[in-house]
Amino acid sequence: MARRTLKGGAMLAPLPPALVSVGTEERANLITIGWTGITATIPPSTYISVRPERFSHRLLMENGEFVIHLASEDLAPAVDFCGMYTGEKVDKFEKCALTKAKSTYVSCPTVEECPVAIECRVREVKNMGSHDVFFADILGVSVDEKLFDENGKIHLEWAHLIAYMHGEYFALGKKIGKFGYSATKSEKGGVKGKVASHKTKKPSSRSAPEKTLSKTKKAHRKGERK
Ligand SMILES: Cc1cc2nc3c(=O)[nH]c(=O)nc-3n(C[C@H](O)[C@H](O)[C@H](O)COP(=O)(O)O)c2cc1C
Repeated sequence: MARRTLKGGAMLAPLPPALVSVGTEERANLITIGWTGITATIPPSTYISVRPERFSHRLLMENGEFVIHLASEDLAPAVDFCGMYTGEKVDKFEKCALTKAKSTYVSCPTVEECPVAIECRVREVKNMGSHDVFFADILGVSVDEKLFDENGKIHLEWAHLIAYMHGEYFALGKKIGKFGYSATKSEKGGVKGKVASHKTKKPSSRSAPEKTLSKTKKAHRKGERK
């Protein structure tokens, strides 16, 4: 395919636009975080990257704990709001009509309305330039009861989670496979077979509509500013 090479930028997508609670129950705050991920399975660990000038950075340094919340579609306006205003001036819980619930392992609150809450304790802080990375252990996870089926299997797809991609929010689409499904498929042809369904797709399935092309450069810059 023909490609355009751009200068290095924060192009990784999609990401969860996480609603992160910081501080203590008495002085809690919410910050939207796009730069997050898993660092290890054992022990379960994660990170959030936070600019030092954020009010939340101060609370994180003081308290050393946070809760990452995954957001469903109906919470998208709250996610955006918490990424626009500082908790130094507004009570984001109050403004977004979000409820503070007691967390199990950490002193900062869980957001009652969020389907998944990941309770974390900071292990190390490392500066990576514009952002400080808060590496943390995942002490516990709480999940909305409604997402469990009768066999105890968790169905995150029932939560209608949102994705953040290059400055924009998206609803997740259809399920297209499960972990290891390509291996199951290739059993028929053994290791000799090719895993190449992308070869049978029409190229147009990856093309942008004509009118959005001119905005690409602007969006690239916008998506880097978090
Ligand atoms: C979708 C989205 C993702 C964001 N990701 C980050 C991030 O990863 N790190 C960061 O420091 N700020 C990020 N921000 C900006 C902060 O959420 C924003 O500056 C917020 O108002 C800070 O709140 P505080 O001053 O109460 O801490 C993001 C904002 C949005 C809307």
